[in-house]
Amino acid sequence: MKKGKFIVIEGCEGAGKSKQSKILTDALNAHGIDAVATREPGGAPLAEELRRIILSPEYAPSALAELYLYSAARRDHLDSVVFPALDAGKVVVCDRFMYSTLAYQGYARGLDLDFVRRVNAYTVAPLKVDLALFLDIPPEDGFTRKGGADKGDRLERESLAFFNKVYEGFTDMCTRGELVRIDARGEKEETAEKIYRAVAEVL
Ligand code: TMP
Repeated sequence: MKKGKFIVIEGCEGAGKSKQSKILTDALNAHGIDAVATREPGGAPLAEELRRIILSPEYAPSALAELYLYSAARRDHLDSVVFPALDAGKVVVCDRFMYSTLAYQGYARGLDLDFVRRVNAYTVAPLKVDLALFLDIPPEDGFTRKGGADKGDRLERESLAFFNKVYEGFTDMCTRGELVRIDARGEKEETAEKIYRAVAEVL
């Protein structure tokens, strides 16, 4: 039986997810709430190894192979890090989760959305996400903020058209109520404040 809380932070490249996950975790800990930050793909030894393989420009997996690689990394991360932390009553703040799979492998790569949703459901069961946030900044602004794409990362070599589809996917999930939209175009402190307020409501 899960005792902790599982919070997800999603967004396009350069939206500030990693920075905001850290700010949120530090703020929760400062308020005496035991919180840990983690990320996907990765967050556990095998999952981090899979991350290296998935993002390496050395390989060119099909969309379906990519879906299963992300899913394998996810299940390993859940089994070895997330479930034990939730059992111990911690708040787990996860930088990206299954909504990225739907946005990237579904909306952007074109795999059937219902199929991706089903794979996601099997991959994460019996986990229930307590809150999933989408840090909203348009893809062009994200790359500008990052100072350009990391060309050593296979996914970041994709076109702007690809990232616009990813963005559309995330905004669609907001409309469907699967993600809660946070306007992330402002200063980092302002966004952090909005995130903290949304998270406090589910704790
Ligand atoms: P990161 O740059 O946020 O660390 O994420 C790595 C890349 O992997 C990023 O381009 C998004 C992509 N990704 C997917 O395509 N599917 C997924 O399921 C996840 C978690 C990430």
